[in-house]
Order: sequence, then structure tokens, then C-alpha cells
Amino acid sequence: MNSKEIIDQYNSAVVQSYGRLDLALESGSGTRGTDADGRTLIDFGSGIGTNSLGYADSEWADAVSAQAHRVQHVSNYYYNSTAAEFARKLTGMTGTDKLFFGNSGAEANECAIKIARKRSFDRYGDRNRTTIITLVNSFHGRTVTTLSATGQEQFHNYFFPFTPGFKYVEANNIPALREAIDPTVCAVMFEFIQGEGGVNVLEQDFVDEIFALAKQHDLATISDEVQTGMGRTGRLLAADYFHVKPDIVTLAKGLGGGLPIGVCLTRGEYAEVLTPGTHGSTFGGNPVVCAGGLVVLKRLSDPAFLAELEKKAAYFRSSLEALPKVKSVTGLGLMLGAELDGIAASDLLKAALEKGLLVLTAKTKLRCLPPLTISYEQIDAGMEILKEVLENE
Ligand SMILES: Cc1ncc(COP(=O)(O)O)c(C=O)c1O
Repeated sequence: MNSKEIIDQYNSAVVQSYGRLDLALESGSGTRGTDADGRTLIDFGSGIGTNSLGYADSEWADAVSAQAHRVQHVSNYYYNSTAAEFARKLTGMTGTDKLFFGNSGAEANECAIKIARKRSFDRYGDRNRTTIITLVNSFHGRTVTTLSATGQEQFHNYFFPFTPGFKYVEANNIPALREAIDPTVCAVMFEFIQGEGGVNVLEQDFVDEIFALAKQHDLATISDEVQTGMGRTGRLLAADYFHVKPDIVTLAKGLGGGLPIGVCLTRGEYAEVLTPGTHGSTFGGNPVVCAGGLVVLKRLSDPAFLAELEKKAAYFRSSLEALPKVKSVTGLGLMLGAELDGIAASDLLKAALEKGLLVLTAKTKLRCLPPLTISYEQIDAGMEILKEVLENE
């Protein structure tokens, strides 16, 4: 089938909940994807930060395929060595104690919310100590509860009633954060860098205040690292930049290298909150997904890989900053947003696609989340396309 036939077939059978571009990706290698008509494109988006090792990394594909040939699913009535090894390795690398396995970022955040609320109830026996403070412009997922947690009015439509118990505070506004704390609050949930909200990095003082207030009022700290985690910022976790240890950390996107996984990592007493029957997910801890995840963990546990990643990220950033019509660049590592002058990010995205480059947007910004394995040559090739578009549009 050619691209048009694929697109027509898909749209005839799939609900129209996304604004898609007319591109059918059928194969790929590293940073380059190939569409159904045989056109090769450089990918600065990696499936929204998910194909962390690029397209069809051979070690990753071999591990996934070998696991599929052994056993693909066992259910959560039983144990499996691949899932056990993955969990032990990930908690070890992140300095956390225990994790819950789910399949997506939203599911990881649902789990975090449940743990924070149950821990509050277990400790205080108070059915009103349930409020979770989240930030304006945050994004935490598409389930009814994670939409509720998302601090953007545009997401609080149609699906009423939304889950109560969330309060939104402007990012980096310390007085507003202090003011929001009352006896109903049990947790603060935040992204270190708001991804969908516009690649906005939290200030260190604000992060420090979250942790100081959490200590003072016995609140759970929940960092949503669904987008920032697993090397995306140049460190394993964005928390490493801010020198803090949240009670609960959620991960998804790049963790499986392109397979569906979401985990909720916990520390200390938060690791003991869920008891049999209080939470579950049929596919959670799927061995095929964990086999792919183990290859991601192996790469990220190599200090040389992370050191190279930081260097490449600095190169990527300075190349982006040097482009015409780029006013400023925000973000860390390979999670970067560019504020543009004289061109809308959505127009740039379409023009870049025409010329063979995939990029993303976040609010008014151009957003880049390339694979962590991107080469200097591919950075240059992508930047060349951006330059051409920015000069001519
Ligand atoms: C920070 C953050 N949290 C949660 C989510 C939701 O993840 P998922 O789409 O895997 O449910 C996203 C997705 O963009 C995200 O960026």
C-alpha cells in the first residue's frame, strides 16, 4: 500500500481523536525513518521522545524478538525473570526502592496519585486530606483523573465530571505555592521540565521550596518524569540536575525504547503503600516490553554513553540557537524548545516535513526530542533543513 492508501484505510477505521500529518512511517534505522512511498526522513521527534535508541536498534530488536520466542506474557498471578531483572536494575539505577508496572505515562501517574492518597489516608485516616497540588501548564495524561491533574483549562472540557482534589499553582511562583497549602493537601506533583506545556524548566529555588514545604507538611513529592526521564535531559533523571529525591517518580515514553511501558517508582514508606488487591494492570511487567527496556537500561548505565549524550546535547542546543528566527532555546539535554520569531511553530513543522525532517511543537515553540543515539552528522543534516525552512518561510 502507498501512503495515501494507508492513510485512507486508517481513517476509515480509527476514531479521529488526533490531528495527524499525512505521513505513514513503515520502517527506519537510527535517526532516519522511511515512509510507505520510500522517502527517508530525519527524525528530531523520536515518536515524542519514545524511540530513545532510534528506529529498530539491532540489540534492542534482537532482545525483544528473543523474549517473544521464549514467553510473551505470564499475567500478574506469576513471576518472570525478565521483569524481575528489569525492576531490580531500574530501581537500582534510580536509587528508588520498589516500582509498579503499567503501560503508559497516564497509568504511571494514576498509580502515583493512588499511592499518595492512600498513604495520606493510611497515616491520617482523614478522607479530606486528598488534594494534590499540580502546576499550571502541566501535562499528566489523558485518563479522567490525569486530565484533572493537568493544569491546563483546555483539557477540562467535555468529560465531566472530572476527578476532584487537584489545585493548580503557577510554576516558579513560590508565594502561590505556599498559599495553596492547607490541611486538605497530601502531595505536590510536577514535571521538572514541562514538556507539552512549552518546554518550561522549573527554577531550582522553586524545586527546593516544594521539597521544604513537603517536609514541613508531610506531603508526598511526585515527579512526573514521563518525558524528562531516562537520559532525555542528559542525565538519567531530571531530578539529578536538581539534587532532589522525590518520594514517587513516574517514567514511561523512552523507558521501553518504543514499547508501551509506564512505571511508578517509589521510595521508603511509599514503597509499602499498595497491598494485594489495591492496584493492578493486566499487561504490567510484560516480559517482551521489559526485554526491550533492559537494553535501554544497559545503554544508560554506561557512563560513556551519558557523557557522549551531554556533549551531543550541547552541540544540538548551540546549533539550534544559531538558526535564523530562533529567539531563545529552553530545556535541558535533548529536550529542547525554541521560541521563534516571524514563523509559527506549526508552519515550521509542516515545511520541515516537506523537506524531510520530523520535528515537534509545544505550545508556540518548536520542540526537539531526537533519539539519544543521534549522531553529529544527523544533527547537522536536520539543522540544515531547519535553516533552509527558516530562511525561506
Ligand atoms: C509529562 C507527561 N506525563 C504524562 C504523559 C502521558 O503519557 P501517556 O501518553 O504515555 O499516557 C505525557 C505524555 O505526553 C507527558 O509528557
